[in-house]
Amino acid sequence: MKKIFVPPIKSQGIKTKLVDWISSNVKDIDYSRWVEPFMGTGVVAFNVMPARALLCDSNPHLINLYKGIQNKTITSAIVKHHLIEEGDKLLQTKGEHYYEVRKRFNSNGDSLDFIFLSRSCFNGMMRFNKGGGFNVPFCKKPNRFAQSLVTKITNQVDYISEIIDRGDYTFKNQDFRVTLSELSSDDFVYSDPPYIGRHVDYFDSWTEEDEIYLKGGLIESNAKFILSTWLSNKYRVNEYVFSVWKDCNISTKEHFYHVGAKEDNRNAVYEALLSNIKLKDSITNSEMQNRIDSKISQLTSSTTNHYPSLQLSLNL
Ligand SMILES: C[S@@+](CC[C@H](N)C(=O)[O-])C[C@H]1O[C@@H](n2cnc3c(N)ncnc32)[C@H](O)[C@@H]1O
Repeated sequence: MKKIFVPPIKSQGIKTKLVDWISSNVKDIDYSRWVEPFMGTGVVAFNVMPARALLCDSNPHLINLYKGIQNKTITSAIVKHHLIEEGDKLLQTKGEHYYEVRKRFNSNGDSLDFIFLSRSCFNGMMRFNKGGGFNVPFCKKPNRFAQSLVTKITNQVDYISEIIDRGDYTFKNQDFRVTLSELSSDDFVYSDPPYIGRHVDYFDSWTEEDEIYLKGGLIESNAKFILSTWLSNKYRVNEYVFSVWKDCNISTKEHFYHVGAKEDNRNAVYEALLSNIKLKDSITNSEMQNRIDSKISQLTSSTTNHYPSLQLSLNL
């Protein structure tokens, strides 16, 4: 199986488990620039490894981190030093130091503290309150930054740094509307907005108007695009797929989310890729509607592993 490059931070909606599938669907598509209006952790771009990319997000902490890695103000050695030093304080204070770092981060937004918090917060999922402050409690493991975890994180910084160095990448902290206005018809857009009606926080709220604006902007750009969204879970179907995105092709894959700590507490979701071009396993939107109406399987993609061809060849 192909190695997946995992970023040094984690966030809600991270596509680590879907990246193989997404890559396999884009590997034969020609484009001159890869664009992500919602880059999040960047796991998709860092695995597709396009030669040119515009990667944007409204969350400044994500963009500052990757800009820092790009301009070498953040290196694996600096990250290692920081995590060892702060990890020691965490251990000595039996975890209390986490809240000191969180307070400090919420006043100065330091990217090193961002990595520290992202890797020691409860559930490893960052969230921001109404004022934009990081508000996740501590994971309650004072020995969180054991040597093995520090090594893992610093390796992740090294991998990402090498990928960024080899490509021509631009990171921008901006709203998706601005990114849409910067698109050209020879771009390829991977669009992964927050899912409507799911978790909402300061950087992650999403409305029907946003969804409609996004669709309009993508169509107007004439660029090829893929949108990540969900098709259905055991309770309901995402109606936006058949209204806002009704003229798109759709490819689906089953994905399991763990609920709570128990291994068998899993909820299945059909993840969807919607596109204005034909994808590897896609069917038309109306064909999918027929399948749902006739209670036929909504799966279009097999569960096999895929091996994307990379625009950049890396020796990591
Ligand atoms: C589902 S996540 C993207 C996850 C990403 N593909 C990954 O695998 O890590 C959605 C992202 O959209 C960003 N976002 C939310 N509203 C936005 C907006 N109005 N403009 C730009 N980015 C936005 C959030 O900060 C978040 O990082």
